[in-house]
Amino acid sequence: MTEKDMRFFQSWFSQYCSSFYTGNEEDRKNLLLKEDHTLHVCENMRRIAKDLSLESAKGMLAETIALFHDIGRFPQYAEYKTFRDSISVNHATLGTEVLSREGVLGTLPENEQRTILQAIKFHNAYAVPDLRDYDTLLFLKLIRDADKLDIWRVFAEYLALPEKDRASAAGLGLPDIPEYSENVLSCVLNKGVASLSRVKTLNDFILMQLSWVYDLNFRTSFILLRERNYLKKLISTLPSTEAIGKLSLFLEEYLTERLQGAPSHHDL
Ligand SMILES: [Fe+2]
Repeated sequence: MTEKDMRFFQSWFSQYCSSFYTGNEEDRKNLLLKEDHTLHVCENMRRIAKDLSLESAKGMLAETIALFHDIGRFPQYAEYKTFRDSISVNHATLGTEVLSREGVLGTLPENEQRTILQAIKFHNAYAVPDLRDYDTLLFLKLIRDADKLDIWRVFAEYLALPEKDRASAAGLGLPDIPEYSENVLSCVLNKGVASLSRVKTLNDFILMQLSWVYDLNFRTSFILLRERNYLKKLISTLPSTEAIGKLSLFLEEYLTERLQGAPSHHDL
């Protein structure tokens, strides 16, 4: 993969995105949210790759995965007007189909194309699958961290906005009511990654996002998470009950442990 490929991918991406914009303000906000998210994920990816001292060709491959990881969001929204996969289509699978159909990666060697498509395909899977290929596994872990870090940003910003200014599809149509589900909360307190299938309210969705702290792979991700204060920002939007107070202390402690401890077994 060369810098010329990278430049082509970047210009293909922005042209592809613009092809979905219509005059509708609500649609524009929703699509812009994903376009902007993508650029932030690319930035996160560059930062993590730099800290791992990835060689430049691998860095570009990682950035290409970041650039295309959510490409399926655009046709998904155009057809279904939602970002909720369970009632529309798996946006990761759709993304790999778009890239193959349009022949976007055609100039790259076969093995690089395969790695990119595999990483995109599993970027939103509940857990990292047992892949044999070391490189694919590395890139998959990278995109999962870079993506989560920016979803936290998106939500912290989303929740800080008055409802009329929010991008309507970002909350997946979940009710913004003061309730949360006990089973989602207890999952987080048991250091489990919560599943979207259990999420019933916007608060559950936030609890699920908080549980992603157990699914980070690289030390830089923990550093960025603390630096950017995402946990506190998200927790502050939840009801201020005793249980949520306990959760807040629990997660902060976990994060401190991960930052102080020996490098995780996931670190390279
Ligand atoms: Fe995604």
